[in-house]
Amino acid sequence: MAEFSLPANSKVGKGKTHKAADGAKNRKRFQIYRWNPDDGNNPQIDTYEVDLDACGPMVLDALIKIKNEVDPTLTFRRSCREGVCGSCAMNIDGTNTLACTKPIEDVKDDVKVYPLPHQPVIKDLVPDLTNFYAQYASIKPWMQSDSPPPPDGERLQSKEDRVELDGLYECIMCASCSTSCPSYWWNSDRYLGPAALLQAYRWLADSRDEYTGERLDDLEDPFRLYRCHTIMNCARTCPKGLNPAQAIGKIKEMMVKRRG
Ligand code: SF4
Ligand code: FES
Repeated sequence: MAEFSLPANSKVGKGKTHKAADGAKNRKRFQIYRWNPDDGNNPQIDTYEVDLDACGPMVLDALIKIKNEVDPTLTFRRSCREGVCGSCAMNIDGTNTLACTKPIEDVKDDVKVYPLPHQPVIKDLVPDLTNFYAQYASIKPWMQSDSPPPPDGERLQSKEDRVELDGLYECIMCASCSTSCPSYWWNSDRYLGPAALLQAYRWLADSRDEYTGERLDDLEDPFRLYRCHTIMNCARTCPKGLNPAQAIGKIKEMMVKRRG
């Protein structure tokens, strides 16, 4: 029988509150999703007061401060802290984005921090992106060519051909777009989602790649490509300002054109 309510063990409870040190004048509250697979408890929201006068400007700065000074069990991914590795993607103030480039001052009320939605959670703010990365691998994100490269140099592109990759190569595979997409929420087992499809188009658009036909064959499927219903959450949420829906539209155009 269909189940219309959340299972009891997934309901999110109220957790602990950690106050800022006495004397802190510029306090901001961070409400952070916590779940530990090892303790058997339901998820909970812990609240941490942070003294912004003693903290960097970004949400990631606050998370690192909390982990270093208040609660070392708080778990999240991060690496570059400058918007190039994609590992700190999470849901902040209701939007998927990068914690390292999200200014705290952009959030007027308490800063609510959750893991990327609709993915299994490994712990706290860390989603399990195994399926997401497997889908990325499935589009073969590397150049495929049967022609040998020039003996004395690289495969060059004209400036015009290179421009075709703008808006595509900048993608850092942070998964913010795919996990904001309702089609991906309900069909992520079969729909590739905006991130993998933007990457697929990045190789379709590359003048040096000779496997366009095979790549299109691989996408010609009611689910892998055509579950995109142009909802546009992907373009709204992308922290790099990219437009995966437009790239998906271009793949669909290529499909139509080759049918002649
Ligand atoms: S298109 Fe944007 S949101 Fe999607 S994975 Fe790439 S950088 Fe992240
Ligand atoms: S830590 Fe690398 S993108 Fe945020």
